[in-house]
Amino acid sequence: MTFEQLFKQISPEDIDDNVFKLVGKDFYLITAGKKENYNSMVGSGGGWGTLFKKPTAMCLFPIHRYTLEIIQKEKTYTLSYFPNEYKEQMLFLGSKSGRDSDKMKEVKLSAVQTPCGNMSFKEANLIIECSLTQITTPAVDDFYSQESKDYLKEAYKDPNEHRKYVFGEITAVWVKRG
Ligand SMILES: Cc1cc2nc3c(=O)[nH]c(=O)nc-3n(C[C@H](O)[C@H](O)[C@H](O)COP(=O)(O)O)c2cc1C
Repeated sequence: MTFEQLFKQISPEDIDDNVFKLVGKDFYLITAGKKENYNSMVGSGGGWGTLFKKPTAMCLFPIHRYTLEIIQKEKTYTLSYFPNEYKEQMLFLGSKSGRDSDKMKEVKLSAVQTPCGNMSFKEANLIIECSLTQITTPAVDDFYSQESKDYLKEAYKDPNEHRKYVFGEITAVWVKRG
């Protein structure tokens, strides 16, 4: 089946699911790279909204995350949501790094390429394609609640844990047909 036989394109404003559920309670896969070399990891948190008049998704990464390296190289990526039955496979992709493992070959999900050439999976029920627009490094001094200041100070003791807020324009939204 072709990608368009599996998925139907909708506008970002027609996404039925609740955003606080999608980025707060659920987790999702962030996939970057092209067919020959792509990598997925589990993401959670972040947010969706409008930035500079564009529908935008925001994800959070520590600075040396392998998937982030591929996002920076390719400038595009997907966020994919799945029915509950695939949670185990999703978590597998969050359990080790593609930098030093063959997890993309081992995972029991079927890769699929979008018409734009981005990668996701046939089992997904919602795919958001993003084009990288901004990577911001939050500074401890920019935080005002004690809780967030404490969290960041602790995390920043380890230079590998410096955070990146990654913003991508939502360029396409796909939902599973029927
Ligand atoms: C439930 C869950 C949520 C996660 N959320 C994030 C996240 O938002 N950002 C992040 O950088 N890592 C997150 N991780 C960790 C990455 O998915 C994990 O380190 C992964 O192995 C990284 O893969 P990579 O090294 O191939 O990029 C999460 C892991 C789990 C299990």
